[in-house]
Amino acid sequence: MIINLCTYSLKSSPMSIVTQNISKTYGSGSLAVHALRPLSLTIPNNIFLCLAGPSGSGKSTLLQLLGLLDLPSTGSIRINDTMVPNTDSPIRDQLRAQHIGFIFQRFHLMERLRVYENIALSLRITHNKTLHNETELIQEALEAVQLSDKINRYPKELSGGEQQRVAIARAICKKPTLLIADEPTANLDSQTSLHIIKLLHKLHQKQKMTIVCASHDPLLIQGATHQGTLLDGSLEVDL
Ligand SMILES: Nc1ncnc2c1ncn2[C@@H]1O[C@H](COP(=O)(O)OP(=O)(O)O)[C@@H](O)[C@H]1O
Ligand SMILES: [Mg+2]
Repeated sequence: MIINLCTYSLKSSPMSIVTQNISKTYGSGSLAVHALRPLSLTIPNNIFLCLAGPSGSGKSTLLQLLGLLDLPSTGSIRINDTMVPNTDSPIRDQLRAQHIGFIFQRFHLMERLRVYENIALSLRITHNKTLHNETELIQEALEAVQLSDKINRYPKELSGGEQQRVAIARAICKKPTLLIADEPTANLDSQTSLHIIKLLHKLHQKQKMTIVCASHDPLLIQGATHQGTLLDGSLEVDL
């Protein structure tokens, strides 16, 4: 599979994401689950960090906090020197929309929308309007994942691997500071996984994208620049 990323370039703003003592506890009292122990982490620009760890060790919890999809129980996150509010707020939504692309294990595409509209929706939320060059940006992102010819398809008309590539196009279309992927190949067969892994590595190497992912896939782990392991909510990482 040849992936054409030559024409696809990211915003060149330097990235910094710093977490200070972020933790997550679900529930309270005797039912409390300490999913993530207090964690301070600086994510340098253009790393590819791959997190492993047994099921239930806190990988998704950490990714959701970094992706601003969930609120930490304690601690704080700064993105490019902006303190992220620890309450549901428009500022938080705006920071997430502008800086973070998220790839989910189960793709999370909207079944009733065509490929174009799935990506357009994310772009319109990011910019709070329809960009004049929307079509161009979408074509560019689909070209990067080699799916230009599927622009008018519905998700159910695509294979699992193609759906994941649409999800990646949706995530990278807004040119995020940080790309987060939660077990992006877990629902794919080995051949399709390989394509997705190569694509992520190329996004990192050629586009200088910063990527944090959770995966058990040895090929994904091998190509990462940094590795981390979560165990019972505590992270060991070579950063
Ligand atoms: N929404 C939730 N409510 C209560 N407990 C949760 C919730 N999400 C995750 N957990 C618990 O938090 C722990 C970490 O889960 P998770 O981050 O999903 O781990 P992983 O992604 O490594 O499998 C697990 O014990 C899980 O059951
Ligand atoms: Mg998980």
